[in-house]
Amino acid sequence: MKNSLRFALVALATSAFSLAATPPALSAESAVKSLRGADAQVSDQAPEEKIQLGKRPGSQKPIARSFEQQPPVIPHATENFDEITLEENQCLTCHGPEKYKEKKSPRIGDSHFRNQQTGEIMKQMSSARHNCMQCHVPQVDTPPLVDNTFQGVPQPKAAARKKQ
Ligand code: HEC
Ligand code: HEC
Repeated sequence: MKNSLRFALVALATSAFSLAATPPALSAESAVKSLRGADAQVSDQAPEEKIQLGKRPGSQKPIARSFEQQPPVIPHATENFDEITLEENQCLTCHGPEKYKEKKSPRIGDSHFRNQQTGEIMKQMSSARHNCMQCHVPQVDTPPLVDNTFQGVPQPKAAARKKQ
């Protein structure tokens, strides 16, 4: 009884293995090809890490926005900053409402003080804006992933932007 069970299991395992190892033969025309040209079962390689373009904050100009509500891209490097955690956010040590003047940095946007539920403007930054890098990205020198003819809309005047 024990032996026959073991035999049955081995037989099952062997047939499962042979099924996996030898896919049914396909003719040349009907062979399935992946669009990306790589074996779909091989996981993607992590892309090589690119060096950020910007230098230390305070040494370059903001980059023009492509449209009015675009989260501005980060013109300076962020590689040397600590990672944003639940307790700490180094970005706020320069961009937060308490320190921005002293640090000669642009203050976080007006929208960052809006309560997500009620829409009211708060004194504190909304916690929904804590993870800066979710919306603001540093820059690297890399070609566009696909050719495109995208053009930003003309820049609104800074004064008009402030009114919102
Ligand atoms: C040491 C101070 C300092 C720290 C820390 C810092 N920044 Fe900045 N940031 C600046 C200054 C100054 C500028 C103005 C442009 C420049 O000088 O690079 C700026 C510009 C920006 C801008 C562009 C604003 C615009 O209107 O175009 C964004 C977005 C930004 N920073 C996001 C961040 C984020 C996100 C972090 C954290 C990962 C961060 N910064 C950390 C000082 C700082
Ligand atoms: C949910 C997306 C989002 C997150 C998270 C976020 N921002 Fe922004 N940020 C924006 C958008 C959109 C704008 C442009 C509208 C505005 O000025 O409020 C902006 C504008 C800014 C500006 C330029 C303000 C101006 O008046 O020109 C700075 C500086 C900035 N953000 C810094 C930060 C920092 C630092 C953090 C993290 C503490 C952060 N942001 C988190 C979306 C975001």
